[in-house]
Amino acid sequence: IPVAPFVLTVFGATGDLARRKLLPALFQRDFAGQLPAEAVMIGVARRAMTQDAFRALARAAIIEHVPAADGAGPDLDRFLARLHYAAVDAEGEDGWSDLSSKVAAFADRIPVHYLATAPQLFGPICEKLGRFGLSGNDARVVIEKPIGRDLASAIQVNQAIGKVFPEERVYRIDHYLGKETVQNLMALRFANALFEPLWNSAHIDHVQITVAESLGVEGRAGYYDTAGTLRDMVQNHLLQLLCLVAMEPPPSLEADAVRDEKLKVLRALKPIDRHNAAGATVRGQYRAGASAGGAVPGYLDELGSPQSRTETFVAVKAELANWRWAGVPFYLRTGKRLAARVSEIVIGFRPVPHSAFSETAGPILPNQLVIRLQPDEGVKLWLMIKDPGPGGIRLSHVPLDMTFAEAFKVRNPDAYERLILDVVRGDQTLFMRRDEVEAAWRWIDPVLEAWRNMDEPPRPYTAGTWGPSAAIALIERDGRTWQEDGA
Ligand code: BG6
Repeated sequence: IPVAPFVLTVFGATGDLARRKLLPALFQRDFAGQLPAEAVMIGVARRAMTQDAFRALARAAIIEHVPAADGAGPDLDRFLARLHYAAVDAEGEDGWSDLSSKVAAFADRIPVHYLATAPQLFGPICEKLGRFGLSGNDARVVIEKPIGRDLASAIQVNQAIGKVFPEERVYRIDHYLGKETVQNLMALRFANALFEPLWNSAHIDHVQITVAESLGVEGRAGYYDTAGTLRDMVQNHLLQLLCLVAMEPPPSLEADAVRDEKLKVLRALKPIDRHNAAGATVRGQYRAGASAGGAVPGYLDELGSPQSRTETFVAVKAELANWRWAGVPFYLRTGKRLAARVSEIVIGFRPVPHSAFSETAGPILPNQLVIRLQPDEGVKLWLMIKDPGPGGIRLSHVPLDMTFAEAFKVRNPDAYERLILDVVRGDQTLFMRRDEVEAAWRWIDPVLEAWRNMDEPPRPYTAGTWGPSAAIALIERDGRTWQEDGA
């Protein structure tokens, strides 16, 4: 789908997100010939800086984060020539008129404002965008989590933005929705007749969603300690994945058709509160251990504070109160410093009702559909087959395996490459609507409150393991096990 000429302002242009993700993503799309010749970007940050200095910063960021970028190649030079810079004080008045005239110079292009800043600046920046004439001309605004730290603060942020931008021009990024395999989940479910008839409690026993990271909190301990894993990962990424697995087939992939269905899932989540949180959730925090063969410090050492009770791991047994999913548990787990970096969704089917095979054939294991989001994106359908050979029948559990890297010999684009261009295209399908974000918080708030009331420290786990043993007990209590690595 072609992309119209745009003028993109990136607030926080010298920050981590811009350098690691946004500039490399824009360069990649330009390199692929997808940016129109008239597309321009204006980096916006507080410090005074020349345009050349900003271009040098962007050059360094792209070379660092795009392995194939040629430091002095014409492609990179052409991209850098699109970049401008404006020094603006987001909270004060300085620089705004200048920014306004810079954007006005490109009045024939769609304005997009990407707020890659601290979330407390979302409201003040939007207010200025409105006051300095930057919110008209079909301008869009892009923000990213954290959108609030509970329902009340999320409503405040949404209201501040909503005063200036109507909902159809607000793009709330959840970068998981831009991941190739996450979109593939929709293709798998709605472009194949095979799965949908089985996609319910009559045939599915349970669902597991794992987003495991091997890294620790790295340089982000300051932010992380005020958030914790439930806010950082579950409120957004894991719930979005759950929505895509559980939603009803939408009538079309039009943005509101998909978002209406996701909203219904969020509203169907059974509450987890002080009455059941102890049995349905596990919080963990990593201690020193080993990762990638080397010793790594514990969370408290990284943070430099022995007191923190912030969780770096969460496991939850979630359930949906609706006809399709009644009685099917959705086990979610995510954490830092786990045994591997692996994100996957496992759909566990029910066992066969009767075995016609003798005991010597071995056990019949239930079918599983494993959707691997990263790394090694792909889909595996685990089936029972007969071992080859002329003897009696012996059964094996074997995957029908589609690894995308082998099936499609193309680079997997980063989520941001897709999402930024979707903003220019005006396609909100992969962005969260206000009511979705608020519905997710409405479910998360009572969990947070229950944890506060329980007043217990998170359970320790050794870095490089699969989390606290209580997380294993959470699923084994139900006679099931976590699926490690699709095996
Ligand atoms: C971010 C979280 O949203 O997602 C980080 O704030 C986390 O804590 C990251 O590391 C994981 O994203 P990805 O794309 O590396 O799986």
